Amino acid sequence: MSSAPNTAALYGGATGRRVTVRDVQAAKGRHEKWPMVTAYDAMTARVFDEAGIPVMLVGDSAAMVVYGYDSTLPVTVEDLIPLTAAVVRGSSRALVVADLPFGSYQASPQQAMETAARFMKEAGAHAVKLEGGNRVLPQVEALVSAGIPVMGHLGLTPQSVNAFGGYRVQGRGQSGDELMADAKALEHAGAFSLVLECVPTDLANRVTAALSIPTIGIGAGPGTDAQVLVWQDLMGLTEHPAKFVKKYFDLHGEMDRAVRAFADEVSSGAFPAKEHSYS
Ligand code: KIV
Repeated sequence: MSSAPNTAALYGGATGRRVTVRDVQAAKGRHEKWPMVTAYDAMTARVFDEAGIPVMLVGDSAAMVVYGYDSTLPVTVEDLIPLTAAVVRGSSRALVVADLPFGSYQASPQQAMETAARFMKEAGAHAVKLEGGNRVLPQVEALVSAGIPVMGHLGLTPQSVNAFGGYRVQGRGQSGDELMADAKALEHAGAFSLVLECVPTDLANRVTAALSIPTIGIGAGPGTDAQVLVWQDLMGLTEHPAKFVKKYFDLHGEMDRAVRAFADEVSSGAFPAKEHSYS
């Protein structure tokens, strides 16, 4: 058996160019599962890019993990454009998706168009993501017809946390039929992929089977075409992660140990040593 890399693969495949929305869609035809992570700065983007992560999302989760707010609502276009530009600069292979923040697209297709154009022109994003189903279809259609790839987002859409009355699983019972209808409508409107957040596994499986575009799960069980996690969650920096998070590293603990070692050595005079000093 050949050990040559599968250059068609999304994860760790061909490296000479950016991943495109066509690549992402073709992966579904091959039943290839792939990872997406969030990124908010150039150095972490480079690590993820070199590891072969094919799609990076500059999520409005930056509101919480970068800017320290307690929800995604306060973050603005001005806050996210520099982060998106940094992720684009720090990567050379990944498709970079910019999240449109709360209040920057809901008012009208024209508002969505103006916001998305800023992310494409000023930050170099390759696609945008927005939350919602039926109510944002005119926005999705306008963006797609202007040549802007759109990633949809259904289920627990955090920008609607106040309407949901908290961060809770969505799509149980009859509301699952509504979510299925929204998913089909987003595909019909031209979305190239769809995030499903905090929905029952069975519903995510049915949506994944019903759509020809890839589904990207977060708290949606193992059956979606792709999986996404916020990088601070998967690296163990987040203090109280959600049930759906798997912690792959103890970054909080490692950083705590390192910064205490630095502080102790400064206090004792052990740092800087001769090799860190100039003659
Ligand atoms: O903002 C974000 O990070 C997201 C992902 C969790 C899907 O929307």
